[in-house]
Amino acid sequence: MLRVLTAICMVMLMSIPAANAMKIKDHHQEIMTGDNGKVECSACHGDAKRKTIPDASVCESCHGSVEDIAELTKRPADAGHDVEPNPHDSLHYGTDLPCTYCHMEHKESKVYCNQCHEFEYPDMKR
Ligand code: HEC
Ligand code: HEC
Ligand code: HEC
Ligand code: HEC
Repeated sequence: MLRVLTAICMVMLMSIPAANAMKIKDHHQEIMTGDNGKVECSACHGDAKRKTIPDASVCESCHGSVEDIAELTKRPADAGHDVEPNPHDSLHYGTDLPCTYCHMEHKESKVYCNQCHEFEYPDMKR
């Protein structure tokens, strides 16, 4: 049993892509590619050797404050129930949800709200 588990772990380790092979989103490709043609991991991960999930402050340094972002996706005041709610300023969480609850970089993005709701957000770049 232990041997089988070890084998599985080895396979999993080997399938982790080499550091600079991490794929990023098309919409970030241009701005995050350095003069050497490589993705600048530091643009989101800083200089730390051990990369961790970036804080909202990293995203905000380019995209503006959470209030600015909420403003971009503001719904008309008279929007009815058929208009999906502003994901950046929601009933339950206001503007407090970390960006990376929804916007992934190296895998498909998801809508955190959809643990409980069924929003579609067709304009979201996944
Ligand atoms: C170095 C600046 C920079 C950083 C840091 C950055 N972005 Fe971006 N992002 C851009 C630029 C430039 C674009 C393409 C132009 C645009 O759509 O604003 C973009 C595009 C996007 C888009 C697509 C926008 C659309 O049109 O639908 C999303 C979503 C996004 N970024 C989220 C994030 C998140 C989340 C983070 C943090 C993990 C982040 N960005 C960090 C510069 C940045
Ligand atoms: C609850 C999920 C969720 C969270 C958390 C979230 N977003 Fe979004 N984001 C979305 C969705 C959904 C869209 C598509 C917009 C729409 O439908 O109006 C979007 C769109 C965007 C866009 C494009 C807006 C435009 O219309 O030009 C940017 C930029 C963006 N998000 C950045 C961020 C940043 C930065 C954070 C953190 C401060 C963040 N988002 C947090 C779900 C989320
Ligand atoms: C545009 C911002 C951005 C860039 C550029 C970026 N990352 Fe990431 N990275 C993220 C986000 C957001 C996450 C959170 C999980 C996800 O979205 O896939 C993450 C997660 C990771 C993780 C897992 C961390 C954990 O604790 O789960 C690793 C490892 C990583 N990135 C490596 C890299 C490498 C290597 C590069 C350069 C090739 C890079 N990243 C470039 C945004 C970025
Ligand atoms: C843990 C479960 C859960 C999550 C996650 C969640 N919600 Fe909700 N939400 C509920 C419940 C329960 C209600 C109240 C019952 C109802 O009205 O459907 C509700 C109600 C709402 C309503 C009012 C519904 C109406 O018809 O007026 C809105 C708008 C809403 N949520 C938006 C969001 C958004 C946006 C997100 C993500 C940013 C989100 N919710 C995430 C559980 C959740």
